[in-house]
Amino acid sequence: MGDPVHGVGEPGRREPGPDEVALVTADPHLGEVVVGADALRRRTAAIGAEITRDYDGLPLLLVGVLKGAFMFMADLSRAIDLPVEFDFMAVSSYGNATKSSGVVRIVKDLDIDLSGRHVLIVEDIIDSGLTLAYLRKNLLARNPASVEVCALLVREGLQKQDPDLRYVGFRIPPDFVVGYGLDVGERYRSLPFIASYVEDPA
Ligand code: IMP
Ligand code: MG
Repeated sequence: MGDPVHGVGEPGRREPGPDEVALVTADPHLGEVVVGADALRRRTAAIGAEITRDYDGLPLLLVGVLKGAFMFMADLSRAIDLPVEFDFMAVSSYGNATKSSGVVRIVKDLDIDLSGRHVLIVEDIIDSGLTLAYLRKNLLARNPASVEVCALLVREGLQKQDPDLRYVGFRIPPDFVVGYGLDVGERYRSLPFIASYVEDPA
């Protein structure tokens, strides 16, 4: 593998399109566009190219963390120009609230045996880092060749544990966000961009 690439995102390139502004304006629960569809596409293509270089010739298994990462994983996998395998895990750490409970539970385990495989965990967002710390430890115990992490979003400044992320899409401010797979109470996952969520609109 090549040198570790710690992506820092492209904070200057998040300008929302007119359709996105219209959508967040029409819904009082949506604040502002945090990452527009265009920026998501560009960053996903760039990360896919990095992964393609780093894993050339290695058996790569993408492990998506359900449900939030499903959309990013679908787009990311198409930006990786290598044969990849897929598996998914579902963990529960949030329930329907917008605050972390700190409790991680495996709701759906992997189907594929990890021995000898290069595992790339694909996460939607790293908040406290508790979910990821648990997952990494759990997967490392299954004898894989390697375990690395690709997180679409990292909420700035809140990680209680060093998350050691190999690929990062965007570092974002503290607001709770929805869209592009991320939900609040199962809503907003299909939004094609990421917006801040307003719990009690005035
Ligand atoms: P952590 O364990 O505190 O890092 O929480 C990570 C998980 O919480 C993510 O995988 C998400 O499922 C969920 N989460 C954290 N922040 C947000 C958010 O702003 N919107 C939607 N889900 C979130
Ligand atoms: Mg969630």
